[in-house]
Amino acid sequence: MDVVISPTPVSAASQAGAKVAEAIANNPRLVLGVATGSSPLGIYEYVRREIEENGLDVSGITCFALDEYVGLPEDHPESYHRVVAATVTGPWGLKPEQVHVPAGNTGDPRQAALDYDQAIKDAGGVDLQIVGIGGNGHIGFNEPGSSLGSRTRVKTLHPRTREDNARFFDGDMNAVPIHCVTQGIGTILDAGSVVMIASGEAKADAISKMVEGAVSSNCPASALQLHPHVLVYIDDAAAADLQHRDYYDFAVANADKLPGA
Ligand code: F6R
Repeated sequence: MDVVISPTPVSAASQAGAKVAEAIANNPRLVLGVATGSSPLGIYEYVRREIEENGLDVSGITCFALDEYVGLPEDHPESYHRVVAATVTGPWGLKPEQVHVPAGNTGDPRQAALDYDQAIKDAGGVDLQIVGIGGNGHIGFNEPGSSLGSRTRVKTLHPRTREDNARFFDGDMNAVPIHCVTQGIGTILDAGSVVMIASGEAKADAISKMVEGAVSSNCPASALQLHPHVLVYIDDAAAADLQHRDYYDFAVANADKLPGA
């Protein structure tokens, strides 16, 4: 796990965005896992600019969203179908068929979850997965207690997550759906590489547990310690509780001294 700490959320997003843009440039048929929420928006904006200003070609990529609420109509402004359309599909000029989001508004969300896991496999697996982190350490909507080997499935949102996401629902926690379909931790760990983006003091505790704590379902993101290619882009505030921050900074500062870098 490489931890790259930037002074501001904007610079963290630019660094992460450059990494994603580079991955697309290196593999025009990239299968990209996209997260929703506030954290990855700077990445999506960075890539949009690369497309518009530098001709980055995204016509051959495929995107898979991490999760979707259960029971929200797909045209609800906060459904992840709509959010991904508004933040990725539209701004990047993708065709709708290039972008997949789990079906949360169906009579059988459990089957939809199984179908989604299979669709990712059928696409050859995710090459690069973008993730944010919840204040309680969730990735995707794998809340504390999630099995570290879990596949895409239905989960119950933690009350803290519903509180955190109430800001997208006019501050009304009760308007936030109770259930979701989310890629499992095992599904996320199957990705070729993972880019995490997080900022702000509300994420500091979760980031320290994820990077330096025990691998435990108590902090689902800690499972990323088991993945060989994880890049963590955070700002100073999110790095505040890290014990080995000096070392991470030293590693980044000396990265170009490695032969072949
Ligand atoms: C979103 C997702 C969640 C968010 C996390 C952080 O698809 O799966 O894990 O990444 O809740 O949300 P923000 O970025 O809004 O703080």
